[in-house]
Amino acid sequence: MRAMTCIEDLRQAARRRVPRAFFGYAEAGSYTEQTLAANRSDLERIRLRQRVLVDISRRSTSSTLLGERVGLPIALAPIGLGGLQWGDGEILACRAAQAAGIPYTLGTLSICSIEDVAAAVEKPFWFQLYVMKDRGFARALIERAIAARCSALVLTVDLQVLGQRHADIRNGLSVPPALKLGNLIDMATKPRWALGMLAARRRTFGNLAGFVRGEARVKALAEWIAHQFDETLSWKDIEWIRGIWPGKLIIKGILDVEDARAACDVGASAIVVSNHGGRQMDGASSSISILPGIADAVGSDLEVLFDGGIRSGQDVLRAIALGARGCLLGRAYIYGLGAGGEAGVGRAIEIIRRELDVTMGLAGLNSVAEIGRHCLVD
Ligand SMILES: Cc1cc2nc3c(=O)[nH]c(=O)nc-3n(C[C@H](O)[C@H](O)[C@H](O)COP(=O)(O)O)c2cc1C
Repeated sequence: MRAMTCIEDLRQAARRRVPRAFFGYAEAGSYTEQTLAANRSDLERIRLRQRVLVDISRRSTSSTLLGERVGLPIALAPIGLGGLQWGDGEILACRAAQAAGIPYTLGTLSICSIEDVAAAVEKPFWFQLYVMKDRGFARALIERAIAARCSALVLTVDLQVLGQRHADIRNGLSVPPALKLGNLIDMATKPRWALGMLAARRRTFGNLAGFVRGEARVKALAEWIAHQFDETLSWKDIEWIRGIWPGKLIIKGILDVEDARAACDVGASAIVVSNHGGRQMDGASSSISILPGIADAVGSDLEVLFDGGIRSGQDVLRAIALGARGCLLGRAYIYGLGAGGEAGVGRAIEIIRRELDVTMGLAGLNSVAEIGRHCLVD
């Protein structure tokens, strides 16, 4: 891989290497993309305070997330269809995360299955659950995550109905999928990607294998999924999940103080303040603008994690200063995956670690625990 100095370099490389339909799937937000844009613009507006003549020689980016030591305060977010950005993408991303000492989250709608990833990596990972109408399927997924020794269950709660992404419809990534001839020709012009996909163990939703009739066809699976998001899901169902999953529970997709309080009441270990990377409710606030209010309200009762627009170590420092314990990387690592598989994800994490390290130094900080609102210009 040629020199990749920032996440934008990885994004440009991914744009060249990944077929248009799948790169577009990663990039897009819902509807007018206002919320997607606000995630970035609101982060960029936050000014950091430079401090000088402080001994910063002992500084470290290490911290803890949910009681586990991490090399830097980030985790990789769940990403559906990660294995279409690069063959065996979920396994490669998980390996890169574990090499950097940070958690990886495998999504329900991944290409590699829970068992594929568990067999290919050394340490436990987090598993993200979408609760489907077929509660037998949801139960089976949780039981598989237990058997695979997953160390946390990330319950995503902001997707009972699907936000529309115009580009996905144009590219045939709608439900049911109908890739256009142009997309197929485009795929043929991405040889590295195509070779990786040919060698990959799977090319369709791995966790669903064996559950859906006609499951060999992506179309049958995608149709099943689209009708399976459970619109009746409510806080009462958390008790049902708790009865099956004994471990750490992270509720992802919180954007309101009252919902954050409810997550405390049901005994969640952590929440993720998130608007699904601007892919669900268009017109919702940026997640960074909501973070401080939620952190003030519940930050001492559970861990407050954050995602939405993180593209640099400076952004990580901004979110921690506003009350996050750590951040989830979404597109930032997906660009790395599309740019260069496992090495590309490793590069994305290392870019962010170095940026965080330098920014901590320039802010006069030696540890992540010292980061706070005093690090920001009012
Ligand atoms: C391509 C793509 C697929 C995603 N798939 C899922 C998913 O399956 N489950 C989930 O909980 N969140 C999913 N998300 C949301 C991410 O977990 C995360 O909240 C979001 O990407 C954070 O914003 P960022 O991309 O700006 O960092 C997805 C995001 C993207 C970009």
